[in-house]
Amino acid sequence: MKPRVQKVFQNLDPAPDAIVVANAVDPHLDQTFFYLFDVPAGLFEGSLAIAHPDGKLDVLTAALEAETAREAAKKDPNVTIHVVGREETDSEAKKLLGGAKKVGLNYRELTHEWFNRLDKTFDGTEWVDVSNAIRRARVTKDPNEIQLLRKAGEIGSKVGREIPGILKAGMTELELAAEMEYRMNRHGASGRSFSTIVAFGPHSAEPHYSPAETKLKAGDSIVCDFGAYYRRYASDITRSFHFGRRDDEMKKVHETVEAAQKAALEAVKPGVPAKEVHLAAARVIDASPWKGRLTHGVGHSIGLVVHDGWGYGATVEDPLEVGMAITVEPGIYLPGHGGVRIEDDIVVTKNGYEFLTTAPREYLEVAA
Ligand code: GLY
Ligand code: MN
Ligand code: MN
Repeated sequence: MKPRVQKVFQNLDPAPDAIVVANAVDPHLDQTFFYLFDVPAGLFEGSLAIAHPDGKLDVLTAALEAETAREAAKKDPNVTIHVVGREETDSEAKKLLGGAKKVGLNYRELTHEWFNRLDKTFDGTEWVDVSNAIRRARVTKDPNEIQLLRKAGEIGSKVGREIPGILKAGMTELELAAEMEYRMNRHGASGRSFSTIVAFGPHSAEPHYSPAETKLKAGDSIVCDFGAYYRRYASDITRSFHFGRRDDEMKKVHETVEAAQKAALEAVKPGVPAKEVHLAAARVIDASPWKGRLTHGVGHSIGLVVHDGWGYGATVEDPLEVGMAITVEPGIYLPGHGGVRIEDDIVVTKNGYEFLTTAPREYLEVAA
C-alpha cells in the first residue's frame, strides 16, 4: 500500500534503496508484511515483500495464496504479485532488487535463518535495521485500520456483555475461555488475538495467568482478558466480575480500578507524554489502601498484533499522537486473595479519545 510504504520510508534518513520484509513459518510471520500488503486472508509463509522508496511493493508468494494475493493486488495498483516456487524466491528477489546497495530489514522480526539466506543471496549488500521506522509508522493508524480495530473491539465488547450470562458454578476456567472464544468467532472474529486469560479466585491476582481446570465457586473474583482478530486486527479487553457475594474489600478494589481507569482516560490527549496516562491511574491506586498494587504499565499500542510494538508505564516520555490505538488497563492485584483489571482499547483523537471497546465496566456481582 503506497501511503504505508511511504510512511515507513519517511521515518528513514538517509533512506535505504529498498526494504525487505520476510515471513518465516507461522507463528514467525512479520505482521509488517500485512501492514504493507493489505490482504485479508492467507498465511503467506515464506513470502517476501520488497518495498521501494516510490511506494511500490513487490510481493513474492507461493501458489498457496496466489488467488487471494492477486485479488488484493487488484485494489492496489502499487502492488505487483510474483508467484514463485520456494526455490525460486531468492533468485526472483535478486532480480527485483536490482542493484540495491543498502537494504532495510526489520531486525525485530526477521528470523536468523532468513537473514543468513538473504546475506548469501545478496552478497555485499549493506543491511540496515529499519525496525524503529516500521514501529513508528505502524503505531498511528489510518482510517481503514481504525475501522477494523473498531470491529475487533465490538466483537470483544459483545462477548464481554455476555460473560455474566455464561457463568455457572462448577465450570472450569478453560470451559469459560472456550465459550468466550467460540462466541467471538460467532460474532465474526477469525480467531482470538492472544491466548485468552480466565482466572478464578486467587488466580485473578496474577495478571498473565493461563486458564486451567479450576472450578468456579461462590465468592470468587473473575478476571477475563481476551480479544478478537477481525481481518488481522486485534482487540484486547479485560472485564472483572464477582461470582456471588464477595467481601467488601473486592468491591472497593473494583471501584478503585474503575476510578483509576477514568483518571487515566482523562489524561489522554495528543501531545501528552504517555507516562502521564500511567501516572494518572497510579496516583488513584497509590492514594487507596492498595498502594503499589498496580504492578504493570497501564497500556500498550494495539494493531496487527495485540502488543503492537510499544507500551507505556511510569517513565515513557513518547507523546500520544492522533490515530494511536492503545489500551488503558489499570489493575489491583492482591496475591492469595484476588484481583481486578479493567481494560479498554481507545484511539487517540484531536480532542481526546474514542472508545473501541464498550462493555460495562462497573462492579457486578453475578448470582451464584
Ligand atoms: N492481554 C494481555 C494484555 O492485556 O496486555
Ligand atoms: Mn488484555
Ligand atoms: Mn492489554
